[in-house]
Amino acid sequence: MRTPAPLRFPPNFVWGTATAAAQIEGAARTDGKSESVWDRFARRPGAVFNGDTLDIACDHYHRFDQDFALMARLGIKHYRLSLAWPRLIPCGDATINQRGIDFYHRLFDSLEKHGITPWVTLFHWDLPQALEAQGGWRSRVVPEAFARYADVAVKAFGSRVKNWITLNEIRCFTVHGYAGLGKAPGAAEAPGVVNQTIHHALVCHGHAVRAVREHGGRGARVGLTDNCETVIPFTETAPDIAAARAHFVETNQSILGAIYGGGYAPAYLRRCGADRPRVTRGDFALISLPTDFLGLNIYTGLTVRRGKNGKPERVLASPSYPKTDSPWLELAPRALYWGPRLAAEVYGVKNIYITENGCGYNDDQVVKGECQDLHRVEYLRSYLKELHRAMQDRTPVRGYFLWSFLDNFEWADGYTRRFGIVHNDFKTQQRTPKMSAHWYARVVADNALL
Ligand code: NOJ
Repeated sequence: MRTPAPLRFPPNFVWGTATAAAQIEGAARTDGKSESVWDRFARRPGAVFNGDTLDIACDHYHRFDQDFALMARLGIKHYRLSLAWPRLIPCGDATINQRGIDFYHRLFDSLEKHGITPWVTLFHWDLPQALEAQGGWRSRVVPEAFARYADVAVKAFGSRVKNWITLNEIRCFTVHGYAGLGKAPGAAEAPGVVNQTIHHALVCHGHAVRAVREHGGRGARVGLTDNCETVIPFTETAPDIAAARAHFVETNQSILGAIYGGGYAPAYLRRCGADRPRVTRGDFALISLPTDFLGLNIYTGLTVRRGKNGKPERVLASPSYPKTDSPWLELAPRALYWGPRLAAEVYGVKNIYITENGCGYNDDQVVKGECQDLHRVEYLRSYLKELHRAMQDRTPVRGYFLWSFLDNFEWADGYTRRFGIVHNDFKTQQRTPKMSAHWYARVVADNALL
């Protein structure tokens, strides 16, 4: 039997792992940190599975040095993390909390010591509750406050952080948070209000880009991380590819279309009708500021073909089609081929990073010191093969961040849903690298799938 040829990645390909402050740090009330919308939401009965809170999480606040030592032992040299806005500016808008700034300086010192490059997301869903009380994403209070927060963060850390991500997954903290879809702050607003929350998030993205250009110093780069709808053609033939592309363009008009198009597409505004977002003069000058890369979080995809009427038509999987334990996460390795490819083709993006990819299961257990998450290894292998195929076809993907380094607070699913390649025992805070961590370490070391 012939051994298949290794799938080699280009030199300088960025291999990393990703986390977010609210999901791992804990220390929810330590050193001046204020309450975030998620701290508040998690206390609402029934909002989070099992009543889990973010209070302790992985206690990474106190354990980051050991965590980075483990990351370094696994040979992982790039790490995507987020800053907690409520730690840096507890009331959202005014006074800076020096203890918060000091914490992240200690954290960056440790990353430096371990030879790990930080990729820093400015906003990963933990809005200060004080800003929600003033209207949250519904109101322009947030973009105004965010502009100041972005300036503070980039000025404070710009000499040591060169890779900046503006916001994480706009759709999740706007639509899911304000249209009753199970995320903080758990509001249920009319469609016009929800569209306005998206618009305000776009303005924040623009402010983050501006802040990085103004204060980021030499070599600073910036981009958005989006979870665009990833559309997969049922067959890889011209009619299905055209249908997938048309559906991709339409479903992503409110965020990526707006950023790269310099305004809302007429078709999007027609669909919104009276619920169209209100745009203030100057908004799109910010929103469409050029960026250096696009981050894509890709877990699954929507399969589409050309229907009999010539329009895109969804192809639904049968009930026995493989899923992970997250009901929304159907296995779709080709999402990692078509997601970046369509984004590059439709928006002309020159540098794409997969800023998240991974899978969540409920039953990752440590038995006799080992966690045999074979399901995760097979998931990752099948997805990375497709990423490699995309790059062979010249899709400009420059890096890949596995979600997540550690099992953590999986939002409304609490601690039950484990996405980590490192197992965390939430009672003892004992970390145990899973089989997938050792497997991924090999991929990173070889810069190849063998
Ligand atoms: C996307 C989010 O950015 C992250 O916070 C979340 O944990 C993962 N997806 C898995 O659901």
